[in-house]
Amino acid sequence: MELRLDGKVALVTGGSRGIGKSIAQTFVEAGAQVMITSRKAEACEAAVKEIGDGAHFEAGHIGKEEDTARVIEATLDRLGRIDILINNAATNPYAGPIIAIDRSRWDKTFSTNLTAPLFWTQKVWDDWMKENGGSVINIASVGGFGTSPILGVYDITKAALIHVTKQLAAELAPKVRVNALAPGLVKTDFAKALWEDGKGDEVAKAYPLERLGEVEDVAAAALFLAAESGRWVTGQTWVLDGGGMIAYKPTT
Ligand SMILES: NC(=O)c1ccc[n+]([C@@H]2O[C@H](COP(=O)([O-])OP(=O)(O)OC[C@H]3O[C@@H](n4cnc5c(N)ncnc54)[C@H](OP(=O)(O)O)[C@@H]3O)[C@@H](O)[C@H]2O)c1
Repeated sequence: MELRLDGKVALVTGGSRGIGKSIAQTFVEAGAQVMITSRKAEACEAAVKEIGDGAHFEAGHIGKEEDTARVIEATLDRLGRIDILINNAATNPYAGPIIAIDRSRWDKTFSTNLTAPLFWTQKVWDDWMKENGGSVINIASVGGFGTSPILGVYDITKAALIHVTKQLAAELAPKVRVNALAPGLVKTDFAKALWEDGKGDEVAKAYPLERLGEVEDVAAAALFLAAESGRWVTGQTWVLDGGGMIAYKPTT
């Protein structure tokens, strides 16, 4: 089966770099028109130039209601439909135990990583998918399945996003499928502190497939779920982590 998205329109939050940009590129190569969004217009513009024909942008902050409305309405005005929503942008402003976190960073992490994906989905559902169907993919994390001494609040938002994925899949069926991807460590700016200065080599050795993730690994799974190939999958979270979850062996 060919994995094609001809005639489809996708909206990718956090599409200016990293995993979101790779998903946008992959979807354009599969025949889709793709609207990317992130806070910085220049970064979006550069990504669109790099990806080429089929990529478009409208900048916005995913946590702001007015930006949510503007980006989704611009996508419908300019591209005519939204078949696929990728809730990808996220933040991690705090490293440390949650028992010591301040209220503002707790709220910011929840607002960006959990509340925003729900309200982006709500607006896309109201404006297009309720009548026309579609597919929503939330980018979660393997962190959503466990605990961490420093990434606790981030992991809690991702655990909740995995549950939101199930809840929305139940509510929006049969018109709309809702799934999530849960990557392990992928070499992007976001996770740089975890892989720079050779730290990633240690993690890679502990993954059965002996390497860290690349953005294309996540994009390939997103394409499978978004295309006809994913037609009987909903409410699922697919772990993409080189086997880390089933056999991670700490090296220190
Ligand atoms: N990298 C990993 O190891 C890893 C592992 C598991 C899960 N993930 C998840 O994968 C997703 C993508 O991460 P990544 O590693 O690709 O990150 P990245 O390279 O840092 O890219 C993040 C993207 O999100 C945008 N963004 C950030 N905050 C935003 C906001 N408030 N509003 C709109 N756009 C915003 C950024 O652009 P602007 O700065 O222009 O806004 C950028 O386009 C996230 O959900 C992350 O939690 C990553």
